[in-house]
Formats: sequence, C-alpha cells, structure tokens
Amino acid sequence: MKKILVTGATGQIGTDLLDELRSKYGIENVIASARNKKTHIVEKGPFYSLDCTDSKSFFEIAKKENVDTIIHLAAILSAVGEQNPSLLWDINVNGLYNALEISKELNCSLFVPSSIGAFGPGTPKDNTPQLTIQRPTTAYGISKVTGELLCDYYHLKYGLDTRGVRFPGLISYKALPGGGTTDYAVHIYYDALKKGHYTSFIDKGTYMDMMYMPDAINCIIDIMEANPDKLIDRNAFNVSSMSFEPEDIKNSIIKHIPNFTMDYDVDPVRQSIAESWPNSLDVSAAKEQWGFNPKYDLDKMTEDMIFHLSRKIMSK
Ligand code: SER
Repeated sequence: MKKILVTGATGQIGTDLLDELRSKYGIENVIASARNKKTHIVEKGPFYSLDCTDSKSFFEIAKKENVDTIIHLAAILSAVGEQNPSLLWDINVNGLYNALEISKELNCSLFVPSSIGAFGPGTPKDNTPQLTIQRPTTAYGISKVTGELLCDYYHLKYGLDTRGVRFPGLISYKALPGGGTTDYAVHIYYDALKKGHYTSFIDKGTYMDMMYMPDAINCIIDIMEANPDKLIDRNAFNVSSMSFEPEDIKNSIIKHIPNFTMDYDVDPVRQSIAESWPNSLDVSAAKEQWGFNPKYDLDKMTEDMIFHLSRKIMSK
C-alpha cells in the first residue's frame, strides 16, 4: 500500500485505522472520506465528503488522488439494517459495487470487511470453519455474503486484488459502533465507568466472537501487505481473538471496578440476531495464510479499555 483511500473513515473502525495508517504511511498518503465529517479526523489530514453510492464522486476522488488501495469501510451494521433494509442494501451492496468497479478501472487493491454476520442459524456454531454453510437470516448478513461473493468474482474474473476478513464484534474506546448487535460489549465499559451499572440487551449465556480494535487494525494492514500468492481464502478470512458471553465481560470488569453490577433487559431483535451467529470461529486459515496473530484476550483488553476510557471520560 502506498496511497490509500478509506471510505466510512469516521466510523468505529475508520477512526482507529486512520491514526495508524497516517503514522505508518504518511499523512498525505492516506485519504479519508465519509458522509459525516464532524470528527477530529477531518482536521488531521486529507478528507473528502463522500457518499459511496455516488459513483461519480467516488471515482473522481480515487482518480484525482491517484490511490493504489481502497479500504472500503462504509456500511450499515446489523441492528440498524433490520430497521432499514433498503438503506442497508443501497450502502452495503451498491456502495461496494462502486468500490469494485472503481478499483477495477483504476487498478487498485481493495479491502472489504465481512462479518460474523455472514453466518446464519444453519452454520456450525462452535469452531465455525472457514468454508461452511452461509445462510444468514439478517439483511446485514445477506449483504455481507453478497459482498464476499462479489469480491471473489472480481478477483476470479478480472484479477482484481480483493482481500477481506470476517470481523467479529469490535471493541474500542475512540469512536462508538454505529448500531450493531455486538455493541453491548462496548457500551458496558462506558456505563461501568460512568454509572457503575450496565443493563445488557444481549442475554446471559449468549457467546459471540470479539476482538480488540488494535488487533483488528493489524488485521487490515497485515492482510493488505501479505504476499498475494499465499492467499487462498481471499474473501473473507475468519478472524477472532476471544469468544465470551455478557457474564464473562462483567467478571473481567469487576476485577477493576469491584462494585460494578449488571442486569438484563433483552432486546428480542438483537438477541435473535446474536443467536443466529456462531459462538466461536476457527481462525486457522488466517493464521496459516497471512500470519494472523492477535495480542489481546478479554482481561488484557479490559485493562486497556478501562485505562483509556477513564481518561477520555475524565477529560470531557
Ligand atoms: N459488529 C457487527 C454487528 O454487530 C457485526 O459485524 O452488526
């Protein structure tokens, strides 16, 4: 990667990714773009206001900036997608189609995140294989499977350098996630520090794969820098560094905030989405083909989240 365009750059992943890319590749070589421009990202380096469904503007920015890589993060998450499936389809599928066509036209490498949402109730739940049944029951999941297949198609048919991972729930302190099912595992830290109490919308005993943001950022950079000859499962690799249920994260937080309490007010929509997803993924293909090697387990993540988030909250 030499010159990179990031779409959806002001979202949860983009906010962390931009900082890392700018320090690694140089501020002028990382072009941020998003529909929403009200964040510090806008001031720190090149930024364009861009709706990824606007193919003309998308193409013009990529061409003008002469980018060799597009990291296409613009997307609607699972819970919001169930409320507005047509908006989800427009952004997640038509926006991705634009990213593919522009990458083909300008000969760019393209990173597209897939998700644990690309699996469904028929998928084996434990140690979910890299290649398995993918019959998701959410609009989000359907868009993610479509994305995986489209990215594979453009690679096979046109030789486009598409690469992707199936992200689990991502936990971070810089920016909040925008309406996913795994968001409880971020909100719990904010409420633990601000109120000493959290009401979980995901039920006790519901396991989902998760990962701390620094490991997710490394995934994006490592897979994009990997030797393409080694990548068999391009779109998309299972990645995860932990699998837990709400009581596990509560117990990890209690080690730092002994009076922390949690109760449940389960949201049926997000609970049924969570139940349709795997408990834990097999990540061996990512390890073998491009050296996936996450650093954070649950307790290490909790320690770091509480350290950074308490400073963030205090400084407000
Ligand atoms: N974190 C996403 C969601 O919950 C899953 O990829 O929608």
